[in-house]
Amino acid sequence: MLDLATLPPSFLWGVATSAYQIEGAATADGRKPSIWDTFCRVPGAIDNGDTGDVACDHYHRWPEDVALMRRLNLAAYRFSVAWPRVLPDGTGPVNQAGLDFYDRLVDGLLAAGIRPFLTLYHWDLPQALQDRGGWPSRETAYAFGEYAAVVAARLGDRVTDWMTLNEPLCSAWIGHLEGTMAPGERDLTRAVRASHHLLLGHGLATAAIRANAARPPAVGVVCNLSPIEPLSDGEADRAAAVRADGHTNRWWLDPLFGRGYPADMIETYRVALPVEPGDLESIAAPLDFFGLNYYFRQVVTADPDGPAPFARQVPVPAAVETAMGWESHAAGLEQLILRLAEEYGVRSIYVTENGSAWHDEVTPAGDIEDKERTEYLEQHLAACGAAAAKGAPIHGYFAWSLLDNFEWAYGYDKRFGLVHVDYPTQRRTIKISGHRYAELIAEHRQLAASRTVG
Ligand code: FCB
Repeated sequence: MLDLATLPPSFLWGVATSAYQIEGAATADGRKPSIWDTFCRVPGAIDNGDTGDVACDHYHRWPEDVALMRRLNLAAYRFSVAWPRVLPDGTGPVNQAGLDFYDRLVDGLLAAGIRPFLTLYHWDLPQALQDRGGWPSRETAYAFGEYAAVVAARLGDRVTDWMTLNEPLCSAWIGHLEGTMAPGERDLTRAVRASHHLLLGHGLATAAIRANAARPPAVGVVCNLSPIEPLSDGEADRAAAVRADGHTNRWWLDPLFGRGYPADMIETYRVALPVEPGDLESIAAPLDFFGLNYYFRQVVTADPDGPAPFARQVPVPAAVETAMGWESHAAGLEQLILRLAEEYGVRSIYVTENGSAWHDEVTPAGDIEDKERTEYLEQHLAACGAAAAKGAPIHGYFAWSLLDNFEWAYGYDKRFGLVHVDYPTQRRTIKISGHRYAELIAEHRQLAASRTVG
């Protein structure tokens, strides 16, 4: 049960989106293709052959979307900047028209009293950089640092909350090893190289934001983590769980928090790491906050013949599953928050994404009675409260997502929004979950005010 009093009075309430998933306007004002524009053209890569060409047309409809955020009582909005709008060729000349869009959006948010949380990279690498080697190439990390400097110089007088990467695990492992996300490769060596250059890019971007933002920035990184459990008590499954934890969690957390890459995983991958002197120091630059994305736990079994990390996720019997086939398991969120605080000494955590897709139906009256999403939301907020009650520094929650949107390889069929989008008309309708979220925010605000006064 959600007890709002367990959340700190300053708890920040937000929603999250990302550029490619909502903006559309793929060729507007000088934007050039990203790896996702390319991947969407690969036959069979995306369900229904969907693309992000139009998406929620947020590029043109953002004032309406900011108005929706106000109706939801939001205090903060996490969005991403599209690198291919700002530097259409990845490096080189800045496309001012592309930056202007984010300039208007930031002003619109501030005028609405909504705090912008800006992510620099939510997977949309300029195709031009992919053509020059992509993340497996060190040059891409340097290019990311330069791009970060450009955005920070333009928006850093108003934006104070910055995130470098979103979920480097997905870019490296799903994009380069599993092949089901852009750029669609299946090559462990390239995946491991990509992982290091993503982290190096994070380090360089962190320094670039701090050097170029006019107002003192808070800088963080966003990782998707999962608690890992072995399927059985047997030795092989327990070892598999350690490897899966290394692959999903420690490979990212250890270098970010100054421990270097985990030795057991270097041993597991058997790929030469392209680490140069100074890289690990750059990656471990102190963070102002950590962004945690949480969707599911993993129960794993040993899979010696499978790809690295030789552990396979298995279904949990009797699990409540979302439309993605992901188990709803709120306790995992509390566990991860506590682990970050206890094991890594993290002093400020935001849940930067958490949410669920369900088979939403619109009633004849036009309502979306998404009871499951509402329950999911309350259960996961309760998990934040439980972690806070144990002293963990959990400072806010961003629901994924504001709008139904382009869910990557799943296209538009999977709906995560608190607000329903009717794609043919682009009509937005707040779902029951959205109304409930607005209500919780208002109640918590009142509670916080009474506690501050009292
Ligand atoms: C996360 C992504 C986000 C969204 C959710 C459902 O992995 O960061 O863009 O697709 O999953």
